[in-house]
Amino acid sequence: MAVVLITGCSSGFGKLAALGFARRGDTVFATMRNVAKAGALREAAAAEGLTLEILQLDVTDRASVDRAVAEVIARAGRIDVAVNNAGIGAVAAVEDFDDDEYLRVFDTNVFGAIRVTRAVLPHMRKQRSGRIINVGSLSGVVPSHFRGIYSATKSALGSLTEALFYELHPFGIHASVIEPGFFATEIGANRMETRRQASSDYAPLLAKYEPGGSSAPEGSKRVDPQPVVDAILEAAFEEHPKRHYAVGNDAVALTDLRKRLPDEEFAQLVLRSMPTLDDQA
Ligand SMILES: NC(=O)c1ccc[n+]([C@@H]2O[C@H](COP(=O)([O-])OP(=O)(O)OC[C@H]3O[C@@H](n4cnc5c(N)ncnc54)[C@H](OP(=O)(O)O)[C@@H]3O)[C@@H](O)[C@H]2O)c1
Repeated sequence: MAVVLITGCSSGFGKLAALGFARRGDTVFATMRNVAKAGALREAAAAEGLTLEILQLDVTDRASVDRAVAEVIARAGRIDVAVNNAGIGAVAAVEDFDDDEYLRVFDTNVFGAIRVTRAVLPHMRKQRSGRIINVGSLSGVVPSHFRGIYSATKSALGSLTEALFYELHPFGIHASVIEPGFFATEIGANRMETRRQASSDYAPLLAKYEPGGSSAPEGSKRVDPQPVVDAILEAAFEEHPKRHYAVGNDAVALTDLRKRLPDEEFAQLVLRSMPTLDDQA
């Protein structure tokens, strides 16, 4: 059975993935930045009679990352799978981010994954085995307006995964990126609001982009996140895992469309679906 470390397990994909690995009998270190939020995961695990360990890990804090990885090694002696899942969303025009705001999104979504990856790799290299699984996004493959900063973090994660795939191949370590479309998690409730977005010139466009202020298109709130967990498990245990996993109908369809359509045609398609400043309702 594998020794697994997952970041961001207080809710969403991280919590569900922790339960998914635990159901297989893996030794799961479910980490979160605020362990006071562990109640929901503990209760879900207890309801199924599952065992898992909760550790504090804030991906933006190097000391916290090193401490958690040292704890895993002290208790389990190895680390087979690291899932870089922790992330924050942000929906606002690129211009409406102050420096500290976009740095925070990158620090969590990109540099956080690098910190964890750098902390686990010496152990995986010594073992000559391991799996790095990064939770990217459809937004990293098909970047969209008002998700520019978020999309840029997820594209960066995709690039890092590809580089890691080649660099780690000689050591028997595999890197994959999971690229989900929209799924019902806490990401909308947890996402960062920028100081300027409410009063910005983009506000009327943003309001039409997201009627009701939801982080996802209408209807997507009912999409069951389990397929994302299934993809994470496949990346962790398949003999020949893929490098990219598009998950969800929207992700599969849009990733395919972006690849097949000429660039200009794709851009025109998106522009036709965008609100304009003139059609204020
Ligand atoms: N849901 C979707 O539609 C979707 C689609 C594509 C990709 N994703 C990606 O999937 C991943 C998981 O998101 P989710 O949808 O499950 O949303 P979520 O329910 O909001 O979960 C995000 C998790 O990340 C944690 N986190 C945030 N900052 C952290 C930090 N500095 N250190 C450690 N943990 C931190 C959160 O902890 P707190 O509870 O402390 O805030 C939470 O546990 C993210 O990387 C997200 O970008 C989501």
